[in-house]
Amino acid sequence: MNLALKAALTNFRICGNELCWDDVALSELARKHGTPLYIYFEKIIQHKHQLLRRLLPDNLYIYYAVKANPNPDILKIIGNLYDGFDVASSGELKRVMSAGFPAAMISYAGPGKTREELRCAIHEEIGCISVESQQEFEHIVQIASNLGKKASISLRINPDFDLSGSGMKMGGGPKQFGVDTEKAPDIIAAMTDESCIKFKGIHIFAGSQNLYADSLLPGFENILKYAVSLQQQTGISFQWINLGGGFGIPYFAHEHELDLEFLGRGLTNLLEQYSSLLGHPEFVLELGRYLVGECGVYLTEVLYKKESRGHVFLITDGGMHHHLAASGNLGQSLARRPMPLTVVNRQNFSVEKVHVVGPLCTPLDTFGFLEIPRAEAGDIIGVFQSGAYGFSASPQLFLSHPAPKEVVIPA
Ligand SMILES: Cc1ncc(COP(=O)(O)O)c(C=O)c1O
Repeated sequence: MNLALKAALTNFRICGNELCWDDVALSELARKHGTPLYIYFEKIIQHKHQLLRRLLPDNLYIYYAVKANPNPDILKIIGNLYDGFDVASSGELKRVMSAGFPAAMISYAGPGKTREELRCAIHEEIGCISVESQQEFEHIVQIASNLGKKASISLRINPDFDLSGSGMKMGGGPKQFGVDTEKAPDIIAAMTDESCIKFKGIHIFAGSQNLYADSLLPGFENILKYAVSLQQQTGISFQWINLGGGFGIPYFAHEHELDLEFLGRGLTNLLEQYSSLLGHPEFVLELGRYLVGECGVYLTEVLYKKESRGHVFLITDGGMHHHLAASGNLGQSLARRPMPLTVVNRQNFSVEKVHVVGPLCTPLDTFGFLEIPRAEAGDIIGVFQSGAYGFSASPQLFLSHPAPKEVVIPA
């Protein structure tokens, strides 16, 4: 049984041969809006929010990592549910502000912020810049003094521990992200010395796409323990501790869902234990795919069905230029395929093992070789768990096909 597909399909029901959202067949939505199409369901985003708020401790703020999906309608929905945004460029900063949210709700991380991007963030009085190097700090001091502003910053730290079980590790060992733990005390001392700087605290993002609560929790505890020792070592108290995140969603056949109940209980205990030791700072999580990954389906039409030396190929009008992750080419966290996919209008049909491929002139443009309901030209394939790292993480210009539509179905 494909666990990821099973988890994804719990949001839909089968009516006749069709997968449906409420009473509307996904194939009908595909015909109405045209394929290839990303379709996002607001209700799924809301449901995730309710679950998180019920199971995670109240004193844990949740920020949305905009890189997961910067669609303006998604930003509007998310900004009205969660506490803030984590951006990784001034482009993302502008998108959030254009969606109607203040810069004060935004934190900004990324190892290569340009001077112009820093100037823009400081000018807008952004909530927090996560500083990732000594040189970046020097730029910030210069820019803030020139603008006559006080820049709110935290220090992103590259920990000397990593996070086991993460699809993508972003901390531990030599990394371009953040400042090594060994260098942190000196740079924090310098940060608290500058009159144009408001030093808020620390940020550690150790990894992404983790499905194991029992490996996430020791990772968070390591961060909290480290924060206590860093406060003691520097004599400086932190009012902001960004614990990163890394909550994963199932993408592949053997992957189960993250046990949020267990994780929530563990986080509640950890914050109870460490909050007073740390002087009751604001604790922040920054999550991307966990908030929006499940809300999106990529719908694509089968253009041709053909046979080549005993193998069946379904050639679709969508491909890796819109959905790089589904072709298995988006880095370590999503490097495999197939993502959960099925023929949305042939649910009760017998299955057939086929190659599902896109229209590009490269063998990389394939969504996988798998058993799915027997399909013909004109049928609609849905790639599920596509709400995060979909269109915006794909090489859309490659071969100059038109962009897919993106449609949000309101709750
Ligand atoms: C600094 C930072 N925060 C948050 C995220 C979001 O990760 P995810 O979508 O897996 O939650 C990433 C992803 O790379 C990141 O680099």
